[in-house]
Amino acid sequence: MREFDPTRRAALGSGMALLAAAPLVAARAASRPGATMQAYQVGRQQGIDSLSLAERAVPHAGPGEVIIGVRASALNHRDLSILAGQYGAAKPPQRVPVGDGAGIVLECGPGVSTVQVGDRVTAPHFTPWLDGDYDPGVFAADLGNTRDGWLAERIVLPAAALVQLPASMSFEDAAALGAAGITAWAVLVSLGRIRAGDTVLTLGTGGVSMLALQIAKISGARVAITSSSDEKLELCRALGADITVNYRRTPAWHETVREATGGRGVDIVVETVGLSSLAQSLACCAPNARVGLLGALGGATPGPTSLGPLILNNIVLKGITSGSRRMLDDLLRASAANGLRPRIDRRFKFGEAREALRHLESGDHVGKVVIQHESMA
Ligand SMILES: NC(=O)c1ccc[n+]([C@@H]2O[C@H](COP(=O)([O-])OP(=O)(O)OC[C@H]3O[C@@H](n4cnc5c(N)ncnc54)[C@H](OP(=O)(O)O)[C@@H]3O)[C@@H](O)[C@H]2O)c1
Repeated sequence: MREFDPTRRAALGSGMALLAAAPLVAARAASRPGATMQAYQVGRQQGIDSLSLAERAVPHAGPGEVIIGVRASALNHRDLSILAGQYGAAKPPQRVPVGDGAGIVLECGPGVSTVQVGDRVTAPHFTPWLDGDYDPGVFAADLGNTRDGWLAERIVLPAAALVQLPASMSFEDAAALGAAGITAWAVLVSLGRIRAGDTVLTLGTGGVSMLALQIAKISGARVAITSSSDEKLELCRALGADITVNYRRTPAWHETVREATGGRGVDIVVETVGLSSLAQSLACCAPNARVGLLGALGGATPGPTSLGPLILNNIVLKGITSGSRRMLDDLLRASAANGLRPRIDRRFKFGEAREALRHLESGDHVGKVVIQHESMA
């Protein structure tokens, strides 16, 4: 594998336009023996600067596999953790990062009958989790973690994991819905059994939280959301948020949320911050509320914890890792049917992946950060 010269692509000039016009022809040409593609790799995993772009042989589809020409990928908080060496065991330096993306099927391996060349597809990052209950075994084939991810011109995926994009959905929107969307779906729909009229609490304005807001609104729920920024809360109100609280200026934000529900509390909590805010989230809960605990944005140190409400209010607390292929399929169909378009904060070019990750790391974003792969495939 040799390091990639970022000026080479720009020098292709009108050749890129030709690729845009005829991706499948280009795909056949690029599949010749010895053909190469560009792929980012995680390197030494000591932070964003470990990321590098390299050229490697184009992959081919084995039995049950497909090759996808990637058109868009989307970042999640854990992509930062992986690059910082803070997400499980160290990865091989050549590992291609990023768990979310979407693209066009370029090649089908032997035995593949569920998709065909030209189909527009995406997949859940836990590729073996097709349906049903979570099993930790799904971590063995986790895109961008234990299996090569989407930050490349092409990706090899098992056909069984693929989900077709609704006709009206763009590659960027499908990529942006991905992991953050199915995680929000897992809390609201699978755990929460959301119903019109419920009140949902979601924390912060990152990828998961904004999709939770949007999914809750198409489900007919009221939404309470917190943020460190009044400007971000303004954007949330424009997307339909009913109760907004600045957690920096109002440290006792749980009291504000509870008051705003007339004292009853919320029915579902999307707890993105973790142990440091769990007690406050539980204090917001109505009887029989469902709480999905997702992460540790607030660090690993527990805040003042009172589990009293858990018992007294019969609250269900569940850890949520992500979601299945079935949930992704359901989410895409629900989004298309209801005109849900994920809020994309900013788009970056493929050559700007480090800048995209830095933008995510800054926390300045509201919603998703997307990388456009143009018509490279
Ligand atoms: N993305 C996924 O697919 C996925 C799946 C499973 C679990 N998770 C977990 O869910 C959490 C959110 O992930 P994400 O990808 O949505 O992250 P993200 O896009 O990076 O969201 C970060 C946002 O959360 C808010 N935040 C950060 N620290 C906070 C704190 N101490 N207290 C309150 N709010 C805080 C900030 O919003 P404001 O600036 O508005 O305050 C920040 O911009 C993470 O813990 C992640 O590990 C994510």
